[in-house]
Amino acid sequence: MDHSYCRLVLVCSVLALCLGNQGARSQLTVDFYYNTCPQLYAIVQQHVFSAMMVETRMGASLLRLHFHDCFVNGCDGSILLDGDTGEKFALPNLNSVRGFEVIDAIKADLETFCPEVVSCADIVALAASYGVLFSGGPYYDVLLGRRDGLVANQSGANNSLPSPFEPIDSIIQKFNAVGLNTTDVVVLSGAHTIGQARCALFSKRLSNFSATSSVDPTLDATLAASLQSLCAGGDGNQTTALDARSADYFDNHYYQNLLVERGLLSSDQGLFSSPDGVASTKALVQTYSDDGEQFFYDFVWSMLKMGNISPPPGSAGQIRKNCRVVN
Ligand code: HEM
Repeated sequence: MDHSYCRLVLVCSVLALCLGNQGARSQLTVDFYYNTCPQLYAIVQQHVFSAMMVETRMGASLLRLHFHDCFVNGCDGSILLDGDTGEKFALPNLNSVRGFEVIDAIKADLETFCPEVVSCADIVALAASYGVLFSGGPYYDVLLGRRDGLVANQSGANNSLPSPFEPIDSIIQKFNAVGLNTTDVVVLSGAHTIGQARCALFSKRLSNFSATSSVDPTLDATLAASLQSLCAGGDGNQTTALDARSADYFDNHYYQNLLVERGLLSSDQGLFSSPDGVASTKALVQTYSDDGEQFFYDFVWSMLKMGNISPPPGSAGQIRKNCRVVN
């Protein structure tokens, strides 16, 4: 067993103990379904793997689904609820967040093997971890035992999820609001080592940028030119890789890109190049660009913290039979 693996196992065990003392989520454990649904891991793995065989990007989409679930009402599967007043229709999610069908397929199998046992929120957390693993990222033991929320919170999704147009200081505040710190912002932004973004989310950087510069001066000129031609047709839904060096592979190229002004979103490049990023996040970007092992180690830690964001006290929840509707 190599050292990095031992370190990860140690992190998971220590974190399980630390997070276990945080009250509302004291029930989260690695072996929560050990007796009640031993098929869980095989079922989730198999579905995520098959979905990624069809479309590699699905690993990234599942990771983002977990993030957008946890930041609104805690990790309670509220993002999965259907209805036009739901989180799915919030601005950061509409035509953007993906992976719902994969979660549905997993849930359908689980309802056959262990009915009404596994929460949708846990399925999302576990699917995200396999999305990372099958993209070449670190393995970690997901802490389980979440319950599904009874309500979605569309205004919460509009207000609490960070926007790519926001300054770094304000993104840090949104992370702080859910108990995550500046290091978590930099580490979890490293998720943008995989997946895609639409022109609408970065085209502001490509023309009429400011009074003095047509293109964002912190965007590499060659990348800017290729993005301009990609987005020229005006189709805001056209997508490109967040990490152009290795779009589907989970590594630390994301940070190395930022050093040479090849971050795609303004909120990515801002971690290294904006005035508030220089003050708070730049040194960490440098660290992770130099040391991929440190990035993996810290990513696991931050994912476990993010996965432990609790629903508000008093919202006990349920185990949904269908992830799209409350029972
Ligand atoms: C720090 C603040 C963040 C901002 C402003 C941000 C913003 C965005 C935006 C605008 C997109 C593209 C959406 C689209 O084209 O429709 C995106 C994609 C993505 N984000 Fe983030 N994000 C942030 C943090 C995170 C975190 C914490 C994670 C996970 C831990 C994450 C994971 C992803 C992934 C994997 C994708 C690609 C999804 C896909 O290809 O389907 N992001 N993000």
